[in-house]
Amino acid sequence: MASEREVRVRLRRAGQEHLLRFWAELAPGPRAALLAELAPLEPEALREHCRRAAAACALPPGPSPDLAARLRPLPPERVGSVGRSDPETRRCWEEEGFRQIALNKVAVLLLAGGQGTRLGVAYPKGMYRVGLPSGKTLYQLQAERIRRVEQLAGERRGTRCTVPWYIMTSEFTLGPTAEFFKEHDFFHLDPANVVMFEQRMLPAVTFDGKAILERKDKVAMAPDGNGGLYCALADHQILEDMERRGVEFVHVYCVDNILVRLADPAFIGFCVLRGADCGAKVVEKAYPEEPVGVVCQVDGVPQVVEYSEISPETARLRASDGGLLYNAGNICNHFFTRGFLQMVTRKCEPLLKPHVAVKKVPYVDEEGNLVKPLKPNGIKMEKFVFDVFQFAKNFVAFEVLREEEFSPLKNADPASRDSPCTARQALLAQHYRWALQAGARFLDTHGAWLPQPPSPPLHGDPPAICEISPLVSYSGEGLEVYLQGQQFQSPLILDEDQAKPCTEDEAGETSWPGLFPWCCCSRVQCLC
Ligand code: UD1
Repeated sequence: MASEREVRVRLRRAGQEHLLRFWAELAPGPRAALLAELAPLEPEALREHCRRAAAACALPPGPSPDLAARLRPLPPERVGSVGRSDPETRRCWEEEGFRQIALNKVAVLLLAGGQGTRLGVAYPKGMYRVGLPSGKTLYQLQAERIRRVEQLAGERRGTRCTVPWYIMTSEFTLGPTAEFFKEHDFFHLDPANVVMFEQRMLPAVTFDGKAILERKDKVAMAPDGNGGLYCALADHQILEDMERRGVEFVHVYCVDNILVRLADPAFIGFCVLRGADCGAKVVEKAYPEEPVGVVCQVDGVPQVVEYSEISPETARLRASDGGLLYNAGNICNHFFTRGFLQMVTRKCEPLLKPHVAVKKVPYVDEEGNLVKPLKPNGIKMEKFVFDVFQFAKNFVAFEVLREEEFSPLKNADPASRDSPCTARQALLAQHYRWALQAGARFLDTHGAWLPQPPSPPLHGDPPAICEISPLVSYSGEGLEVYLQGQQFQSPLILDEDQAKPCTEDEAGETSWPGLFPWCCCSRVQCLC
């Protein structure tokens, strides 16, 4: 390990020697910890990082004034749409996706290095339970969707296949995430196919370009943004690992969307058939101020303009049909070929411009007191995962239905949007719709029929609680065999073990003629 003298010289070169100002007071343990934190910081890179942060801060706040004039919506020929395509086209996309999955050419990559500040929990967001009847966490839902999509692809092609799961973590999330997976036996995935790796951290910086000490022995560090992915892929030879496994296509996604379809065959198939090197799933924006990035073109080049960087006037612009002009909402689900990721990590990463977030960063003052600032005092610099779209040769967007694929968990209850409550409702409403489509009917607690509305609810609590394990159905498929013509009382919880008909011995008399005939045991909660 580097000595104090060496580190001091390096910090001096970077103009950051103040980070050692409490050295004389520190005990051996904290001294070692501080040196370990400082040693990897390259002087030139650190100097540049602090200079850039201060320079960015000196710019006027808000969206760049000429941005609006440079923006255009994506040309329609670059966009595929689930809602506006015919069943045969959708079937072709899906078939192609399943084919690639069955050939072991598809991997999923989770961005899980964020701190989940808005949700306000002290553990990684993937470990969050939104209060489903099953008690499943986001990680468990995701793991089960991987298992199901492997099974579906394998069955179609008469083979066994694997969708490796790469998980990018950060200093904050690696330990607890790894522990959680071990505790849960990797949710019955083969641990060899779950690869966790860590993104880099960067110091938070004051407005005049000084890295901040959050304690006498600790620099205030933050993950380098989800665009830190590209450095992390190189740092940990992840693309080499993919190559060894034969992976050609990577579905990158963010942790907090409870409806996320991992390795979505339709999305993969669409991108592959279009020969795309890079793609983004989008949904129609719900309202102009919705905190989602907009997939569009800047100076004719595909890009995402983040919600924090678009002006309210531009976000409110309307197209001739009355809809929002910039309505392609980014849901942080991206498609990349391995070749594209290789090119980006080798050549383009240094060209990515960091984005500036001004934050309240706790710090120690000159006297060594801990201060929790009441107003923003520091800058965190982050790269964004989608900033590589500009390097794509063939970029496509894929529009999906919000109610089927997007309900993010960002805020703590009782927020009215993107909260545990809205995420839970979105999943249960989806499963209720799937059950109705598969021919199920529901009774209320008094045994009266619940009305079967012509269009099942999209928001709020569904009339009956129905939760279907991803191990039983990935996107609503295959449910007729369990539900067609059956009647259930809420809650109906259909999981892998329950979704097997009882044997004759297990079956008994039902007091409600015509009710779920093979379920009078305790497996499925019906009226038997
Ligand atoms: C993100 C998108 C936004 C999109 C929205 C949809 C980015 C930069 N922004 O916004 O365009 O409309 O999701 O929900 O992608 N993460 C890391 N490392 C980090 C920071 C974040 O891995 O250093 C991960 C998070 O764990 C999360 C994902 O990146 O899985 C998105 O981060 P988050 O901060 O939630 O992004 P949003 O601001 O919600």
